[in-house]
Amino acid sequence: MKVFKGLKELQIFIQTYKRQNPKEIIGLVPTMGALHKGHLSLIESSKKTCDLTIVSIFVNPTQFGANEDFGKYPRKTEADLEICQRAEVDIVFMPEVAEMYPLKPSLQTTFNAPSSMANVLEGEARSGHFNGVLQVLNKLFHLIQPHKAFFGKKDAQQLLIVQKMVEDLFFPLEIIPCEIVRSEEGLALSSRNEYLSIEGKKEALKISQSLKVAMQVIMQGERESLKIKAEALKVLEGLEVEYFAIVDRNLEPILTIQKDSTLILVVAKIEGVRLLDNVWF
Ligand code: PAF
Repeated sequence: MKVFKGLKELQIFIQTYKRQNPKEIIGLVPTMGALHKGHLSLIESSKKTCDLTIVSIFVNPTQFGANEDFGKYPRKTEADLEICQRAEVDIVFMPEVAEMYPLKPSLQTTFNAPSSMANVLEGEARSGHFNGVLQVLNKLFHLIQPHKAFFGKKDAQQLLIVQKMVEDLFFPLEIIPCEIVRSEEGLALSSRNEYLSIEGKKEALKISQSLKVAMQVIMQGERESLKIKAEALKVLEGLEVEYFAIVDRNLEPILTIQKDSTLILVVAKIEGVRLLDNVWF
């Protein structure tokens, strides 16, 4: 496994690799580190379908708001490298902030995710978040020029916005959505779960349970969003629910759900930690 910290070394490696192996498929798994089984499943998907798997580890400052947890976000370089090594990742790219953003913010090119997708749900609580995500992904996609990039369905809004950018800007790149990985009890894995106490983790199970109930109601034939939501909210009683939304793939709320175009998202706060989960129907 090769570890690159500098952009130049990485670019030289990629260019040489592409020249020498023009037919090989390069897979990128972009991460912010604190790797868990969810990331491992992205790595496994890349290993299965690509010849070279690159994992980027970079806590991207531009996607954090001023009052968010950029400083506190878990950084576990050694454990992350060990996980990558064991998973037989080929390349880890872990640049410093100054390398990715050498200029002051006012001199940087920024990105605007489509406002109707970026300013709702997560974007409502985290203004500018998705622009920051697209900014760093643009840098990573241009530096690495992967054929495929792997994203978890857990960050559903991120996944849809990234797919939209790739489509709108004709990136020669395939975005591969990967299933949500859960603990045995059903909690969607997230690096932020680490902030929770044992009690908090137990409380957090209500989040995935609410989605399970929503799906049960749907399987029984209910198609009205309001009725599905009402049943799910009963499970979430006692939690600080930020939103429970039933939307289409453009993130627009829908009154009547339809198979293959429905996304149910929930965000609740437990012990001050925002936890996301969702289910695709
Ligand atoms: O999902 C994440 O970890 C981040 O938003 C990403 C895609 C690595 C961009 O910083």
